[in-house]
Amino acid sequence: ENSATDPKNLRVKLVLLGDSGVGKSCIVLRFVRGQFDPTSKVTVGASFLSQTLALEDSTTVKFEIWDTAGQERYAALAPLYYRGAGAAIVVYDITSPESFNKAQYWVKELQKHGSPDMIMALVGNKADLNDNRSVSSQDAQEYAERNSMFFIETSAKTADNINQLFEEIAKRLP
Ligand code: GTP
Ligand code: MG
Repeated sequence: ENSATDPKNLRVKLVLLGDSGVGKSCIVLRFVRGQFDPTSKVTVGASFLSQTLALEDSTTVKFEIWDTAGQERYAALAPLYYRGAGAAIVVYDITSPESFNKAQYWVKELQKHGSPDMIMALVGNKADLNDNRSVSSQDAQEYAERNSMFFIETSAKTADNINQLFEEIAKRLP
């Protein structure tokens, strides 16, 4: 293996999954373009974007990002995007318990059909709407730990923890 001082150029296929409206496309837009779209349109099928992140030790990670469509009618397409993925971001909206249930469905799906060594992140988005929170951080954290995932709360709107999310994935790459 390379030593810690030897910078590498890594590449990872990453998939985002989660209920429609939780903010998957906004997370990606914030990470890739530094923007937020309050009128974001629902994703049809899936969309692909890539972004390279430089880490402190000058390792670079190219994320090849599949942003899937959360609407039920597209659920059957998901395996096309998570198959062969090295990392998955499962997103819910902290104001929506239904979206947290849906996130758990996707986690089970990935555990059954994804690669066993996939890095999985559980993301509670819309952290800026804390006043309307209905999923506690502690419940989500415990669920994530039980399922060997890491947990983070983000806001695509304010940019809070968006870069940290991708850095945490990068750090865990083999
Ligand atoms: P599908 O493509 O249908 O699966 O939905 P999606 O998960 O991609 O949702 P999208 O990113 O399009 O965002 C849905 C709505 O939530 C939009 O109106 C966004 O502006 C809003 N939104 C996304 N992220 C945030 C956030 O962090 N905070 C707040 N307040 N609103 C957000
Ligand atoms: Mg979308």
